[in-house]
Amino acid sequence: MARCFVTREIPGTAVERLAADHDVEVWSDRLPPTREQLRERAADAEGLLCMLTDPVDRELFEAAPGLRAVSTYAVGTDNIDLAAASEREIPVGHTPDVLTETSADLALALMLAVMRRIPEGDAEVRAGEWLTWEPARLLGHDLHRATVGIVGLGRIGQAVKRRAEGFGARVIHSGRTDGVSIEQLLERSTVVTLHCPLTDQTRGLIDAGALRRMRDDAYLVNTARGPVVDTEALGQALEQGSIAGAALDVTDPEPLPADHPLLGAPNLVVAPHLGSASHETRAEMADIAVDNLLAGLRGESMPHQANR
Ligand code: DGY
Repeated sequence: MARCFVTREIPGTAVERLAADHDVEVWSDRLPPTREQLRERAADAEGLLCMLTDPVDRELFEAAPGLRAVSTYAVGTDNIDLAAASEREIPVGHTPDVLTETSADLALALMLAVMRRIPEGDAEVRAGEWLTWEPARLLGHDLHRATVGIVGLGRIGQAVKRRAEGFGARVIHSGRTDGVSIEQLLERSTVVTLHCPLTDQTRGLIDAGALRRMRDDAYLVNTARGPVVDTEALGQALEQGSIAGAALDVTDPEPLPADHPLLGAPNLVVAPHLGSASHETRAEMADIAVDNLLAGLRGESMPHQANR
């Protein structure tokens, strides 16, 4: 029986399966453990089931001498030092595939929300400002006439491509081996949608220069990771109207404080990192995360292992 720390309550009954075999502590606060609290709990843990909000860095691995397996309740592993884990031969599991379609749905929802001004309309109705149907009020732009530029044609990018094509949009993508260059994508797209992982190469990819390359009728959609976009530069682009709007499921910082200047920018829709947030998908992610941890603790290779 191994001692396991689960850094948040997760949907479904998967953690009960873990607890049937192991000694499990679940962090039950709504907020994640602080760095210090995480380090304290990890100190005597053999298994760690973490969230994308937990920095699982070299310092944490050093503070956890007995740690044998890590499983994250996410597909993204940018919060985990995979190299440090591999040096210790600690397998790290993640949850790819199962959230692909759900995350792609959310990207399309955000595109439509910002292009068709749905949150603005909702706010107007609730404020009692909707007088009657008007010929020229709250006009937006059509997704079916758009050129959607996909940055990162991985699993989720491909699912977004299928959906955007289903809506009648023209789709282009950037890539190292095929597709157009990132510069061409920024210059041609009327929707730029980000689906790349956060790495040293993609951090700050959409900076002031990239935003300047975008068309003034183009929208930016970020459902990848907040730091792929330079927040200050995005705020300026929206204020100056050098792009038409942005829809973000992820931000830098995350969460954005309520008084953050970006939230005052026009033509901006922000969601609280809902990409994988459907009942079904989050329950399946829980099963995979637990299966990964159980396999790792048994010394077997994980069903979905992010490092070797
Ligand atoms: C992930 O799994 O990396 C997603 O961002 C969660 O929604």
